[in-house]
Amino acid sequence: MALQVTPLDNVGVEVSGFDITQPVDEALAAELVALWDEHAILLFRGQDVNPERQIAFSRLFGELEIHPISETRSEDYPELFMLVNDPQKEQFMTATYNGRQMAGRLDWHMDLHYTGKPNRGALLRGVVCAEEDGMTGFGDLARAYDALDEDTRALLEQIEVTYAFSMQRKHMRYVDLEGYEPGPYSPRKPADINYPNFPEVAYPAVVTHPVTGRKVLEICEQFLERIITPHKAGLSNDEAIELLERLVAHTRKPEFHYFHRWEPGDMVLWDNWRAMHCATGTRPGVERVIHRTTIMGDATLGRVIEG
Ligand SMILES: [Fe+2]
Repeated sequence: MALQVTPLDNVGVEVSGFDITQPVDEALAAELVALWDEHAILLFRGQDVNPERQIAFSRLFGELEIHPISETRSEDYPELFMLVNDPQKEQFMTATYNGRQMAGRLDWHMDLHYTGKPNRGALLRGVVCAEEDGMTGFGDLARAYDALDEDTRALLEQIEVTYAFSMQRKHMRYVDLEGYEPGPYSPRKPADINYPNFPEVAYPAVVTHPVTGRKVLEICEQFLERIITPHKAGLSNDEAIELLERLVAHTRKPEFHYFHRWEPGDMVLWDNWRAMHCATGTRPGVERVIHRTTIMGDATLGRVIEG
């Protein structure tokens, strides 16, 4: 059976024409991996998926990571990371956006980007889906790079940008803070939720994808901090800030985005070395369960700034 590939809005593709309950031969596995490399964001719908099948299917794309936080790990399936809206944890993730309380809302980011060693990718499966909100957005930063003008591309070749892990959204320099109020239980420092104190990391503004060789605009708004020594690229400090503002605005253009509204059984696989993602969050108290598998990567894309 040949795979069917249908473009999603703007970026990514829906892949159908196979059955996850049947063994996947080498040719089909190679075809799926090639689609992942080509499109970065793959949607699968209507598959009869359960935890075992999700894990086996995810393994086609690489070795899986066992999540380090045992609390969120499934006991039966250590490769499965459960994202569950529960009232206890939810209060730490609740804030007000334009007068509306939202839980679990997340700005555009790449997973583990703040460590310099982001994982290769991940697969999410909708188990219990919110009727309203609860969308996951995906943004293709290779397409964002391709759309830049020649002068900007040349300038970016000389630039390194840094990311500074932070617990307080209002300390993030390039997220949209208009109408934002932290919640009463929003953590103030990493130790408040048992996170380590991550040092700042630097990335080239354009990263060459280690597998596909495509150029990726390494700009996403969450934790984005500064350009290192902008004067070496002929920029004043003010010009450096304006350049980052312009690049963040560029990554926010809908033409690089796909927003997924979840139905039970949907699976989305993305390339975390190329695509950023975000979560729109839900109203507090809305039940939502997502099962996630994480594909490890062996490349280090950024560097920790020591000292
Ligand atoms: Fe994430």
